[in-house]
Amino acid sequence: MRRPGAATATAHANIALIKYWGKADHALILPRTSSLSLTLDELYTTTTVRFLDAPGDDRVTLDGEPVTGRPLQRITALLDLVRERAGLRAPAEVTSLNTVPTAAGLASSASGFAALAGAAAAASGLDLSPRELSRLARRGSGSASRSIFGGLAIWHAGTDDASSYAEPVHDGAEGGGFADELALVVLVLDAGRKTVSSREAMRLSVETSPAYEPWVAGHAGQLAEALDAIAHRDLARLGEVAEANALGMHATMRAATPSVDYLTEASHAALRAVADARASGFPAWATMDAGPNVKVLTSADRADALERWLRQRLEPSVPQLRTIVTHAGPGLQVTR
Ligand code: PMV
Repeated sequence: MRRPGAATATAHANIALIKYWGKADHALILPRTSSLSLTLDELYTTTTVRFLDAPGDDRVTLDGEPVTGRPLQRITALLDLVRERAGLRAPAEVTSLNTVPTAAGLASSASGFAALAGAAAAASGLDLSPRELSRLARRGSGSASRSIFGGLAIWHAGTDDASSYAEPVHDGAEGGGFADELALVVLVLDAGRKTVSSREAMRLSVETSPAYEPWVAGHAGQLAEALDAIAHRDLARLGEVAEANALGMHATMRAATPSVDYLTEASHAALRAVADARASGFPAWATMDAGPNVKVLTSADRADALERWLRQRLEPSVPQLRTIVTHAGPGLQVTR
């Protein structure tokens, strides 16, 4: 085995078009549903993991700030899985830089745990396949399983640790896949930290929401519809089913006890603006995650015009608005 050392990995955020919402197994992070996502180029995390010679605890910084408490425990738990597999006891020094506003529903946990899995595995001397890295990243945060891959990725729910992994969706000819025709306009309405974690909100949805099982019952059909739309390069069909799936997910948590509602007045204004953009001829469909921000699926060639239209429309009522135009991004990159 290699002597444990250091490695750096970059992983890009992904946004689910067909969502993961609810666990079948909490310890292994096995989801109730499969999910489908687009990995994004402009939003990513770069993480360096260095295993140290001296005994002690893991030390983690994110954007220069020390990480403590529950977030540190989750990182240590993932490092423990790597140490166990590599036969290591050494603590790690982890340095992470994010271009994603942390914990604002912009999937920073996806890029963060994918980069951590890639860097930790390489630094420990393990040589893992992309599928094994996807399974490892999943243990940190479910959505991270998809950020191992670029473009469109599907996370198969599976029934155990071995069968729950993501892989690329075959979306057309080499180098000219459908993912390259897509863009997401991210409407950052509030970059603050969320008050209810996605973990807690999905647990409440599964355990208490009368809307949850109906959402799951319709989910497989929505995923099949999305995959068929991708195979036919049909953005309108993909957008329609993605928006319906996201609205359904938010309906499950609103009907939970206690109710969880991540969407703010600004989110609702953004949703109305997206519907109006569509009515005036733009390809534009909304999706939202565990936060107030709205991401708008569109075509790569209309993304800049749509961004301008939405900004003009929303700026008077949402002065804090920031927008990010993103396109399909690459999979995990590791450098030792
Ligand atoms: O991976 P987590 O625990 O951050 O959960 C992510 C859940 C959603 O972002 C809301 C949906 C998804 O599939 O990414």
